[in-house]
This record gives sequence, C-alpha cells and structure tokens, in this order.
Amino acid sequence: MNIIETVNITKKYGDFVANDAINLAVSEGEIKAIVGENGAGKTTLMNMLYGLIAPTSGKLLVGGKEVKFSSPLDAINSGLGMVHQHFKLVPSLTVCENILLGIEVLKNKTPFIDAKKQYEKVQAVVDKFKFDLNVRDRVEDISIGQKQRVEIMKMLYRNVNILILDEPTAVLTPQEVDELTISLKELKAQGKTIIIITHKLGEVMQLSDSVTIIKRGKVVGEVKTKDTNERKLAQMMVGRDVVLSVKKEEIDNSGNPVVYKLENISTKNIFGKEVLSDINLEVKEGEVLGIAGVEGNGQSELLKVVTGLMTTTKGNITLNGKEITNWWPANIRDAGVGMIHEDRYAQGLCQNMTIKENMIAGYHYCGDVCSRGFLRSQVISKKRDRLIKDYDIRVADAEGEVSQLSGGNAQKIIIAREFDSKPKVLIAAQPTRGVDVGSIEFIHNKILDLRKQGVGVLLISSELSEIMSLSDRIAVMYKGKIIGVVNQKDTSTTELGLLMAGITDKGGKQE
Ligand SMILES: Nc1ncnc2c1ncn2[C@@H]1O[C@H](COP(=O)(O)OP(=O)(O)O)[C@@H](O)[C@H]1O
Ligand SMILES: [Mg+2]
Repeated sequence: MNIIETVNITKKYGDFVANDAINLAVSEGEIKAIVGENGAGKTTLMNMLYGLIAPTSGKLLVGGKEVKFSSPLDAINSGLGMVHQHFKLVPSLTVCENILLGIEVLKNKTPFIDAKKQYEKVQAVVDKFKFDLNVRDRVEDISIGQKQRVEIMKMLYRNVNILILDEPTAVLTPQEVDELTISLKELKAQGKTIIIITHKLGEVMQLSDSVTIIKRGKVVGEVKTKDTNERKLAQMMVGRDVVLSVKKEEIDNSGNPVVYKLENISTKNIFGKEVLSDINLEVKEGEVLGIAGVEGNGQSELLKVVTGLMTTTKGNITLNGKEITNWWPANIRDAGVGMIHEDRYAQGLCQNMTIKENMIAGYHYCGDVCSRGFLRSQVISKKRDRLIKDYDIRVADAEGEVSQLSGGNAQKIIIAREFDSKPKVLIAAQPTRGVDVGSIEFIHNKILDLRKQGVGVLLISSELSEIMSLSDRIAVMYKGKIIGVVNQKDTSTTELGLLMAGITDKGGKQE
C-alpha cells in the first residue's frame, strides 16, 4: 500500500517552477531515497509533505486519503514527521526537555510539570528504539550526531509513523553515519516508513528499498535499489555520465619551491588543553597536500589557525617566505590565501545578504569592485553574473539572498569567490560536504585546475576518497599531531586507515 502519494504536486515561486507536477509514491514500511542535484527541488517537495509550504497545485494523499496541511502540526497529527538539516533545538535545555517542548507532561489536574514522569516517558521511547542518548544531558554539551538523534526522537515521541530526513548525513562524521544507519534500520524493523534525501550514493545503495530521482523539479526516474547501482543513479541525476572519481594529471611538482609552510605550530583550546602540537607542513607550488584524519583530531583547530580565527601558542606560518602567523583573516586573504571553511554558513557566507554581496564578501576593498571607497554596483553585478555562469550556480533569482539557495549552490558561491580571487595558496576544508555528485566532480576539477596553475592547496577532508583522488602527498592527523606523511602514489586506504587510528608501522599505538 502507498502510505504517501502525491498527484501532480506543483510549487511555483513567481515564474520559477521548483516542483513540476510530481507524482511520488512511498510504500508503507519502506526506506525511500530521494536523490537529485543541488537545487533539483527535493527539499521543496518534502516541505510540502510536512505542511511547511503550501503547494501551488496538486494533491497529497496520506494513507489513501487526501489531506491539506496548513502547518507541520497538521502533518504530525497525520503521522508525518520531518528532521531538518539545520537543527531547531534549545541549547540550554536538556535532551528530555527539548523532546517534550510544547507537550510537557503535567501533574494530575495541576499546571505543574511532572518531571519524574516526563523522564520516564521519554526514556521509554529512547529505549524502545534503542537510541544511544542520555536524556538528562544538556543539548549544548552533546555532539552533532546526538543532536540529530534528539530531533528524530522528538518526532518518534509524537508517534509519527513516517519520518522524513533531509540530508541527515551531510553534517555527520563517518562513525555517526554508521550509527544513524543502524538506527534507521531499527526504525524500519519496527514498522516505520522513512523518506531520506542524501547525496551519498553509497548510503542510498546500503539503506534504501527504492529510489526516486528528481531533476530540475521533475521526477526523471523511479527504481528499486536492488536493480540499480551508483553509476546509474549518478547518470540519471545529472543527465550525463559522471566521473565518480576525477583523474589527476601526473605532474612532477617534487622540485617546485615551497609556497606555504607551517613550522612547529602549537595551540591550546579555551580550556588550556593543547590541541595542536608541533605541526610541521610544507606545501609546494602546484601541489595538493591532503590532511586526513578522523574528525576531532585537530583538523578544525588547524583550519582556524591557518585562517586567522585562532591564535598559535608557538610556531610560524609563512607564505612565500613571509611570516603571516596570527594575522587577521582579512590580511591573510589579502596576502593571497583563499579559504573554503568547513561550516559554510558560520564562516563562509552571510545568509541574509544577497548573492551579489556574498560574491565579493572579504574582497570588497579590492581594486576591481571598489573605487575611491565606493562599491561599483554594476561591476559587481557583472562579476556575479559571470561567476554564476562559469560555476554553473543554480539560482532562481540572481538578485536574491543566499538563504534561498540549496546547500550545494551556496557552496559554489564560496568556491567561485575564492577561486576568482586568484590565490597563491588555497585552504580547502571539506570543500564538497553536502554537495551533489555532479558538483563534486566540478569542484574537484577546479581544485586540480588550480594545482595545474601552480597554486599550492592545503586540503582538509574527512572523505578519504576525496583525499586520495586529489592529493599529491597526504599528512595524517591524530590527537593534534601529524602522525605520518605519505605520497599518494605509494599509499592505500588501508595504510591511511591505520594511521588515522593512531597505528604506525613503527609498531604500536601512538599516544
Ligand atoms: N523561497 C524561495 N523563493 C524562491 N526560490 C526558492 C525558494 N526556495 C527554494 N527556491 C528555489 O527552488 C529550487 C529548489 O530548491 P530546493 O528544493 O531547496 O532544492 P534541493 O533541496 O533539491 O537542493 C532552487 O532553485 C531554489 O533556489
Ligand atoms: Mg535540499
């Protein structure tokens, strides 16, 4: 039986058709994956199912009956729950309080909260679905993976039987992805229906029963997972053959001069704990140096130090021999260091500013867009239009705000801005996180273009496949140190995996 069905459901924004007569059918008890390029219209479709936005036309059927939701509350009452990419939790409250928000348990016939009963009820649901969560923890103290579990639990506590997850794995570490996979399989085993949007085709193959492919607002494919593979899915999504792993040109850059150097870099976090210890790295012109490692081993701190967001306690950073240690971010940029931050909304973009403003943010004092202290609006508009075209950024409204863009297209704005500034060195952290396969191929090729032009690239990524396909040399971080540096050509994912776990061939585990 189809538990969810849409009939020609359509959403228009002005003249732009974000969803064009979509017919989606989800069977009861299945895991349905929805895939498609960034901006294809996946989130729009899910927001209509969840009552967040109203369709322009078309019908939605739940359990065979037509429904019209005017808010998420209506959707939840019909058994449909959604977990967003950006969490909506109250940090100062506990896990339990967040789950109960709005439906607190009151003491019999009083307006007072029955705290004991609340905990018991929430704990019972956590136990039932075998979630690894401590309900008394404060949300501000828990990891991203745990926050996501709280969001899922909020829905389960409200007895939804259909769960929609919009790119749940984009923000997770590989280990957290594995835990989520186990949880979702458990939910399915207990009879829940799940709709999941993801760009990771490996996850689609591993998790789902069927896949619906959306392209430019239309359904372009419907397949049973067992009848397809990653290559076919990518092909349907993008409409052409996609190279899932780019081909790196052989360049002998071993004799090139060093353009960027870190010497004995150490730093402490706000609790006084040393989080980077004596980091020594060299990046040559035309070389990609990959930094691999399990997340949380100092990569984020390294990124902050090299982009001027955190100061060092020791050591030097030099660009072409010139010291730039502990400079302000703007000055580091000005000296010729391009930056792609790991959290695109926190550091890379201003969501409530226009695409145009974001295209020059950080470079607005540069000669071409600024004259005698005034921004040259027409020049900037031209630059924006050129970058939108060159970087194939899908925008409904070029005059609009960044907040209207899908994640991958927002990322492409950063890529366009930083690459266009002609850096001498590029720091790229998680450059393709949450980005669709076609865009990954594009961004990877752009990074390799920079390499060919002689730019030194420091690539920080938790995707081992990304590190392997782009890097010339790979440094592995473990507990704030560089535990080993290897040539890409001479290494394997097995060797890197061992280093990432702190195991070197000198024997034993490093402390
Ligand atoms: N509020 C809005 N106003 C105008 N255009 C929008 C709005 N929300 C989404 N869009 C556009 O609709 C298209 C589909 O977006 P979305 O559903 O977020 O894509 P996906 O989730 O597949 O990446 C995009 O081109 C996006 O820019
Ligand atoms: Mg989306």
